[in-house]
Amino acid sequence: MSNLIPSSTRTIPDIAAVPRHIAVIMDGNGRWAKQRFLPRVMGHKQGVESLRKVVKACREIGVEYLTVFAFSSENWRRPEEEVSFLMSLFMKALEREVTKMHKNNIRLKIIGDRSRFSDQLKQSMQDAETLTAHNDGLTLTIAANYGGRWDFMNAVQCMLRDYPQLVQNFTEADLQPYLSMSDAPEPDLFIRTGGEQRVSNFMLWQLAYTELYFTDTLWPAFDGKELTKAISSYQSRERRFGRTSEQVQGKANA
Ligand code: IPE
Ligand code: IPE
Ligand code: MG
Repeated sequence: MSNLIPSSTRTIPDIAAVPRHIAVIMDGNGRWAKQRFLPRVMGHKQGVESLRKVVKACREIGVEYLTVFAFSSENWRRPEEEVSFLMSLFMKALEREVTKMHKNNIRLKIIGDRSRFSDQLKQSMQDAETLTAHNDGLTLTIAANYGGRWDFMNAVQCMLRDYPQLVQNFTEADLQPYLSMSDAPEPDLFIRTGGEQRVSNFMLWQLAYTELYFTDTLWPAFDGKELTKAISSYQSRERRFGRTSEQVQGKANA
């Protein structure tokens, strides 16, 4: 099995360039609402607006892949009313936005374990992906009922189902096509809003060498300007992937 996309852990991207792939943990919706004496769910509603702004900014800046964490495998632990509000918000947002996304040449993908979602939501997800599958502008990936550990375990199980003989010995290249984000380069920049400095089981495999950016700004207050700040921070970093600074400055990519 070949791996057509070079791992970002092997090739050093041009730091001055716009990150090709940005991954975002959209956190702080509940606190944003609480500060305004609103129910938590109003923060989620406003969060959809932030996502719209960030998608627009990514298209303008020329980001190729935007991957956002919308619902984690752990978020089922929340109160039932909040979970069901999030499900219906997801459903409404999909139905309302998909035609616009298609017009804007956005390819929509959803990653995560869909088995717990309603048949109606599963169908909407499938329809949205099918409609936008051949678009070649921004790829927007929504992680829903996603967990990095789930992703890894699922990939191993699917690989072994297809190639049982690999149980003896397998390589990263064997596993790679079975991981959720196998058709995208690894994220260059990770953003977490809302002040927490943790990864919360998001893309554990793919974030191996991603540059991390944390901001106290709550997700419903995040916009294109905040995104530009995160990108400027990224552009001031030096990505070394294990090498020395001197090697990197000599552009030794070997
Ligand atoms: C992130 O905001 C959205 C989801 C997890 C669905 P939160 O709902 O976690 O907001 P805070 O962290 O409680 O403020
Ligand atoms: C992470 O946010 C998941 C999403 C943004 C969807 P949480 O608010 O659920 O994260 P923890 O549990 O506080 O780390
Ligand atoms: Mg949170």
